[in-house]
Amino acid sequence: MLETRGLSAGYGRDTVLHDIDLVVRPGEIVALIGANGAGKSTLVKAISGLLPARAGEVLLDGARIDALSPRERVLRGVCLVPEGRQTFGGLSIEANLRLGAFARGRLEPAALKELIDASCAPFPILLPRRHEPAANLSGGQQQMLAIARGLMSTPKALMLDEPSLGLAPALVSEIFRLIAELRARGFAILLSEQNARQSLAISDRAYVIENGRITTGGAARDILASADIAEKYLGVGHRIGDSAGARQVAMTARLREIMGAR
Ligand SMILES: Nc1ncnc2c1ncn2[C@@H]1O[C@H](COP(=O)(O)OP(=O)(O)OP(=O)(O)O)[C@@H](O)[C@H]1O
Ligand SMILES: [Mg+2]
Repeated sequence: MLETRGLSAGYGRDTVLHDIDLVVRPGEIVALIGANGAGKSTLVKAISGLLPARAGEVLLDGARIDALSPRERVLRGVCLVPEGRQTFGGLSIEANLRLGAFARGRLEPAALKELIDASCAPFPILLPRRHEPAANLSGGQQQMLAIARGLMSTPKALMLDEPSLGLAPALVSEIFRLIAELRARGFAILLSEQNARQSLAISDRAYVIENGRITTGGAARDILASADIAEKYLGVGHRIGDSAGARQVAMTARLREIMGAR
């Protein structure tokens, strides 16, 4: 289980994140929803140790990891698949994958092969093309490679920062479908996304982050049905009826429509 308690972090003189409490349990997808600049990337960087915490705690399975280096956190099982994928186009797909196991030092060839096979299993397009340069992959396939590279560290907690960013709509759906499938493997998944609708649709729970603070948390389906969230993040909620009740009904209907009548 991944947890933060009262976590604060920032850059230079600016404190960007304030007092963040969150929990992500194994086998659960938790969406971190927020607008551009809300602090999503700052939060996952602080959890992974790329940015030092200014206050608060980060815990994995109840043990504090906030004093550990990023590498030590990876070894404990906290993995960040960063925003913008950060794959190396000039390197082969396999070389990119091997980088994901870098923290573990030298592996025997048989162990490495087993790890590559297991990490690529959710993404069948990768293995047959493993000797090609990563630059040959489409944006969606590079996102798959970035996640597979993350899996090479055999994480317990997997943080995905904006995996759908910049992808064509069909690929966005494909990436979300694949992430939903990863849940069955028992990872604790933190899914940072501006795409509230599709991330909530595959998540169990969610937190909404605004100006570096968590303002709402709860079951993903309740957050999806919340009028306030709908207005802010789903692009619906213009006044349809007169009374607040009618407005709520209209919004819920519109949400159902968007969500395909869940
Ligand atoms: N390296 C940095 N140095 C200084 N300020 C930064 C840095 N990175 C982010 N910030 C600031 O921190 C705040 C939160 O940014 P962050 O990147 O965490 O937001 P985000 O929710 O990930 O947004 P996006 O959806 O655009 O990725 C913003 O005000 C941003 O300008
Ligand atoms: Mg970001």
